[in-house]
Amino acid sequence: MRLSQNKRSRASPNRSENRMTQLSVKETSLHVLKELLKLKKPIEARELAKITGLEYEILMTQAIHELRILQPPLVEFEEKDVTELIPTKELNDYVKNGLPERQLVNYLVDNSFDEISLEEFQSLVEMDKRFFFIGLANAKKNRWLMQSDATATPTVYIQNKDAPVSDIEKLIGKFNKKSIIQEELPSDLQKEVGNLLKRKLATKKSYTNRIISLTKAGKAVDISTVGISGEEIPRLTPEMLADGTWRENIDRLKKFEVENAGPKLYAGKLHPMTILINKAREIFLSMGFTEIKGPMVESAFYNFDALFQPQDHPAREMHDTFYLRNPSKTKLPDKKLVKAIKDTHENGGTSKSIGWGGKWSPEIAQKAMLRTHTTATTIRRLSKIAKNKEKLPVKVFCVDHLFRNESVDATHLAEFMQVEGIVVGENLTLAHLKGYLTEFFKKMGFDQLTMHPDFFPYTEPSLGVTVYVESLGKWHEMGGSGIFRPEVTYPLGIKEPVRVLAWGLGFERAAMLTLQRDDIRDLYRSPLKWLKEIKYN
Ligand code: PHE
Repeated sequence: MRLSQNKRSRASPNRSENRMTQLSVKETSLHVLKELLKLKKPIEARELAKITGLEYEILMTQAIHELRILQPPLVEFEEKDVTELIPTKELNDYVKNGLPERQLVNYLVDNSFDEISLEEFQSLVEMDKRFFFIGLANAKKNRWLMQSDATATPTVYIQNKDAPVSDIEKLIGKFNKKSIIQEELPSDLQKEVGNLLKRKLATKKSYTNRIISLTKAGKAVDISTVGISGEEIPRLTPEMLADGTWRENIDRLKKFEVENAGPKLYAGKLHPMTILINKAREIFLSMGFTEIKGPMVESAFYNFDALFQPQDHPAREMHDTFYLRNPSKTKLPDKKLVKAIKDTHENGGTSKSIGWGGKWSPEIAQKAMLRTHTTATTIRRLSKIAKNKEKLPVKVFCVDHLFRNESVDATHLAEFMQVEGIVVGENLTLAHLKGYLTEFFKKMGFDQLTMHPDFFPYTEPSLGVTVYVESLGKWHEMGGSGIFRPEVTYPLGIKEPVRVLAWGLGFERAAMLTLQRDDIRDLYRSPLKWLKEIKYN
């Protein structure tokens, strides 16, 4: 019975080895098996390829492969990552003549100098200037030579006549015009390899070595009983199916490697930020909010004035705000609203506040800029509610871009996003505010939330929002919130007992924590490896 590596042998992998079965393998495999039996010891695959006269790929993918998957396997291999150190021409010269530091010391000792001026030294030894100084530096490092620059003529002294063999010399001694394998060096010399590479005396090449050896069953094979199997048929063709020849060839058909992992496939998918943005949206939608959008090119009026930020507020300055040259001006909204805002700034208007005083300038309010917070968009929406006599409560949110003149680094961007929201309704309190935010963050994956006193010119009270990040064991500040001041709501016609809860949260902060990126820029420069491998649950 011919028992090549086929269904029958696979079906009984535990058959005892001494049962009489004839083993057949391909001719190349038989050849390799013979060589391995002759060798009687493990051998590196490239070496084996040389001995057997086979190409490395053929050896590995055909012969070794076949011998390895037999039941029981006759060979096995072990993979080892190795670093080959290839000597440069310079090194080969040094192997012959000694390192420049050795040459320098030898020169002085041989010519009985205890000291010599640097200049004379240089002219006496015939050495390229560059190598002379490399040698001198190393001789000093090894404490073989010393240099004194105290007098007008720099002088070199012998410090240690014996100049014991240095580690790098020992290492160089291992090269004999041939490459060496770093991993095979004793550990004290391995430490010297960095130095060797730094001095450009060798280059390195890394690869995987495969050490092939016979298994116990392989060693026990009686080679004279091993037969040669027919060549493998790589593919079942339509012709073979049509004319029925597949039947007689069924044992020679190449077996599928069903246990090998196939190549990794990376399917197209949404960017993690898109997924998170959608998640934030869905959370607010599920709580009955409506999404709003507003312009990124904004007026100072909506970005600052309508939020009761004084016209000389430092945040309006150029270093925070990108003002625009074209367009440089925006149109102010209807006169009634402009007047209400103007009055509020100058004297408090209807808000019972005393305002900021001074004169409010429509020119400053008209300036065109990139919005510095999504609160500008919120205010646009808020200005419509009383005017349109909308039914309360009104709950809206916004997940969108904003711009600040920040220098970009691992924690700052000049364009980023906020999750903003307002709730307009009667007798709202901080408890409601905390409730909405707690719910939002819980659904985003942050279970604990605290709020602490903070300041924003447009809310009173103002509260900072902090969440606990389980994986880091730390609290992280997420943004600001509060109840809009009367100076913000009254000019828009929203009056007690109607109040407006508001918040603006840094979206990237939450994204970095959720997606576990330490560098905020990663969210947008899209490191491919991360994007390919990230899994969503
Ligand atoms: N606009 C604030 C910021 O950009 C956040 C905020 C929004 C604070 C609404 C209070 C109310 O940081």
